[in-house]
Parts: sequence; C-alpha cells; structure tokens
Amino acid sequence: MTDVFDTIDAEPLDREAERILRLNDRGGYTVPTEGLYPYQWNWDSAFAGLGFAAFDIDRAWTEIETLFSGQWGNGMVPHILFHRVDAGYFPGPDVWGTEDALGRGACKVPSSGISQPPVVASLAWRIYLADPTAGHDRLAALFPKLLAYHRWIMAARAESGAVAITHPWEAGRDNAPDWDEAMAGIDPVGVAPYTRRDTGHVDPRMRPTQADYDRYIWLVQFARERRWDEAAIAAESPFRVADPTMTFTALRSTRDLRLAAELLGAGTDEIDGWIARLEDGAAMLWNPETGAYDARNLRTGNFAGSVSNASFLSWWAGLEDRRPLETLRRVMTGARYVLPSHDLSAVSFDHLRYWRGPVWAIMNYMAASGMAEQGLTAEGARIRADTVRLIVENGFAEYFSPSDGTPAGGATFTWTAAVWLAWASPSRGEA
Ligand code: DGY
Repeated sequence: MTDVFDTIDAEPLDREAERILRLNDRGGYTVPTEGLYPYQWNWDSAFAGLGFAAFDIDRAWTEIETLFSGQWGNGMVPHILFHRVDAGYFPGPDVWGTEDALGRGACKVPSSGISQPPVVASLAWRIYLADPTAGHDRLAALFPKLLAYHRWIMAARAESGAVAITHPWEAGRDNAPDWDEAMAGIDPVGVAPYTRRDTGHVDPRMRPTQADYDRYIWLVQFARERRWDEAAIAAESPFRVADPTMTFTALRSTRDLRLAAELLGAGTDEIDGWIARLEDGAAMLWNPETGAYDARNLRTGNFAGSVSNASFLSWWAGLEDRRPLETLRRVMTGARYVLPSHDLSAVSFDHLRYWRGPVWAIMNYMAASGMAEQGLTAEGARIRADTVRLIVENGFAEYFSPSDGTPAGGATFTWTAAVWLAWASPSRGEA
C-alpha cells in the first residue's frame, strides 16, 4: 500500500466524517451540504446510506427508505425530493411543477421530474452486506421498489440499449463537456426570469456558466409543458444523450439486483434480459478515436469526444474490456490527483469548474473498486491513495482540483464523508 496509508491517523478523520453525516441529517434523510443543496438528492442519498452503514446500520436503511418514499407510480425515483421548501435553492418545486405529472401516480412527496444515476441498488446491496442479519428484511421490503425503478429505467431511458439522459442534471455531471453539442442545439428563448442561488453559496468559477443554466431551465420548462410525459419528451426534446454514468451505474446496479433476487428467491429472467441489453448498449459507447467510453448524442449519433471519469466506470459495470487501459494510464500520468472528471489535455478542461475537470470522491470509489475487482490493482490503489491525500490535505469538500488539490464547491460534504468511511479511510484496511 502507498506511503500515505502509513502516515495517517485515520481516527480523527473517521470521527469528522461521522460528524458530517450527522450534521447533514435532516431526520430520515441527509442533505448533500447545508445551503447549496438543502434537499434530498437521489444518488447523494444512496451514498449517504453507504456511509451510515459504517457506524449506524438502521440509519443507513432509513436513508434509502426515505428516498423511495418519493418513488413515482411509474417506478421513477426523482433526482430531488423537496421534503421542506427552502428559498435558498433554485429551481424549487414551483419551477418543476410535477404535481400533476403523468406517471406520478399517488406519490405525495414534491419532487423534480427527472432521475439520477441509479447507484441505489448497488449501494443498498453493500449496506445489506455490511450486516446481513439487520438487513435481510429491509432489503426484502425494498426489492420490489428497486425492481420497479429499474423497469422504469429500461422502459423510459434505454431505447438505444445505453441509458439516455433527458437533462444534464439527470447524469449528475451537470456541466460535463459530454453534453456540449446537444446543449448548443438549444436556443433558450422563453425562459422565465430567474435568480440563481448556487452562485450565492459558492464561487461562480466553480459552477456551471449562465449559458448552461438558461438551458437547464429551458429543458425543465419544456418537459413541464408536456406534463413530464416520457413518450412526448423522448419524441420531441432536442436533448437526448446516451451517458456512460447512467449506463455503467445501471449495469452494475442490475447485476447487484440480481444478487439480491437470488438471495430472496425471486426470479431473475427479467433482470438477465436487462443485463444483456445494457451490455449491448455499453458497446455503442466505445469511441475508437479517443480510446474511451464516451457519451453519444442520440439526435445526431455523434460521440462527444470526451474522456471523463465516467469513461472509466466500465470495470465497475463488470465489463472485462481492457481497451480503456491505455487512455486511463495516460490520464493518470498527466494528473497530480486522479481521477479528473475531464481530460487535462482537452481545451475544455477547467480544473475548478464542477464536472469539467475536478476530482470527485464518489466517482473514484466506483472506478477504483471496479478496477480492484478486475485485477487492475495498481490503478485502483493510486486512485484510493489520491482520494485519501485530497481529503487529508483539503477536507471533505464536494470536489477538488486535479492540478493542485484546491477544495471546491460545498464544504462538509455528505458523499465525500461517506466515501471516506466506506472505502478510502485507512481504517478500512486494504479495502
Ligand atoms: C444543482 O442544483 O446544481 C444540482 O446539481 C441539480 O441537481
């Protein structure tokens, strides 16, 4: 193991990470961080559950159960649940206008109208593994809801085999260069006047641009005008991009769902069909020109030409493909801290601006775990060691510069603390 693990006293950092999870706990759900993100976010919450599992297994399950209290009748699990309205965030429930959405069914929790990378089945499976005795009945109760969520993903987003996004926020990688072509095709006319709140909480250099925000809001209005009708959005929206984050997290979660089905004695035929379809879809994301998995604009068929940290989730997804290794090694040689969210040699690289360069602990966790599982031991160990150095040197920030480690975005961040507790901390041993 790298030197960094021998020199760190993990104990105070473990306690600080636990304190952050408690600090961000709003009673049954956890906010990503005070101020900037005052609600329950889908994949943030799944990671919060994973973090809680290191020291409070009951609270871990509660986090996931609260997330599913917002599941729509059609199976969709929204990307934000607005449990208590907070004027410090934009856009709130009044902008999303999902109260009479098609597909919403009897769900009473106010929410956004899109989803997010479906890591929840994978992380619920890990919460179960952390304490199978405590988890068996909770997993059994959750299983049909997870199944309904994945059924919705396959029906509403996987027409190409890969999983598509209908909004950059759905990928969780809001301003990644992966969407630049599709975003350039939107003329954001008719966007109602609005005031951004994010730049009041965080340095604007670390956030998406105003041009991006106008298009984010335009896309929300576009879908709202169609009452969040998936078929109409799929047919008419200028924005539909097949995304490696969605595809690889869905594939991994589907494999983990299969493990849960076997444990619970449920059928696996439908799940096996999803796995085969997602594997086919992943194949169409391989870009031979960049030597990496890439986003693909479904309106034009064009690759984004973006080497991102999502490109390297293929091992997490269980693909044994070694073709990305050469590109991975080039990216790792060029960055002081890995994994950058965008290739340092690209003109669109920006070391502080959200998903156009910075390192994210959750992506490191999934990428490195997948690599370790598939024998890429040195690469996985480097990613973990860099995650540790970033946190030790700069705290539990939302993200970090891959060039100099600058902590960026929100502070005391839930998923950074969670990933520390579940994986990065030297107290987790060789992980
Ligand atoms: C935000 O508000 O920045 C979020 O990423 C939207 O999900």
